[in-house]
Amino acid sequence: MTVNPTLLRELPADLHRDRLPRHVAVIMDGNGRWAKQRGLPRIMGHRRGVDTLKDILRCCKDWGIQALTAYAFSTENWGRPTEEVDFLMTLFERVLRQELREMMEEDVQIRFVGNLNALPKSLQLEIERSMQQTQQNRGIQFTVATNYGGRQEILQACRAIATKVQQGLLQPEEIDEALFEHHLYTAGGDLDLMIRTSGEMRISNFLLWQVAYAELYVTDTLWPDFNRTEFHRALSTFQQRDRRFGKL
Ligand code: FPP
Repeated sequence: MTVNPTLLRELPADLHRDRLPRHVAVIMDGNGRWAKQRGLPRIMGHRRGVDTLKDILRCCKDWGIQALTAYAFSTENWGRPTEEVDFLMTLFERVLRQELREMMEEDVQIRFVGNLNALPKSLQLEIERSMQQTQQNRGIQFTVATNYGGRQEILQACRAIATKVQQGLLQPEEIDEALFEHHLYTAGGDLDLMIRTSGEMRISNFLLWQVAYAELYVTDTLWPDFNRTEFHRALSTFQQRDRRFGKL
């Protein structure tokens, strides 16, 4: 761990506790570029990315943010070279195994969303184990989007609802936003702030339904260099925004 975890341990004084986002999502972009800039293989960027994610998760907990969702692997990421995909799958598995004890100590409830059936069996088992063991934890809800696609999430919700209608369990008029949300992977969690590192102004198929009224924050900083100071900046910007939800 290169980031000093005692740095900015407390919520910075200029942030208002009662106006913090409840749920923050991160698109952790720039790992490959970070490594390339240093003449390192791309996988070293992903390794450093894990350290950043751990510190931002701990920071959310220290500062009183209730939920963090991280985009670890998109449905499009299968198109990367096999060695990189294999490395990422092994990395997820190893991190889960290594961090489970700490997640229990820190009261983290971990959940995975996405098409998990397509992941390697050994990773599926580790995912299952970590979700089961941490399900009673209430310190912070940590959601990892793995083999996740926003359109796919919406499609599977449509299919599940259509099946219920076909079976006569549901009338089309009963389909409203609340019911629809209930069929998404991320049931029941409005998103307040989406952060993207490394400068790209794109949503990249992440939480398409949930992002509807979220604030977007994009920084040029590459994910391995993102830290509590940067996160503080994102939260300050969030608190300066006037969230009108379409009203005046
Ligand atoms: C995007 O950077 C990053 C990823 C596709 C992987 C992110 C995964 C982690 C940080 C590991 C998380 C681990 C767990 C267990 C949750 P990029 O490779 O697209 O970077 P580039 O745009 O510079 O090429």
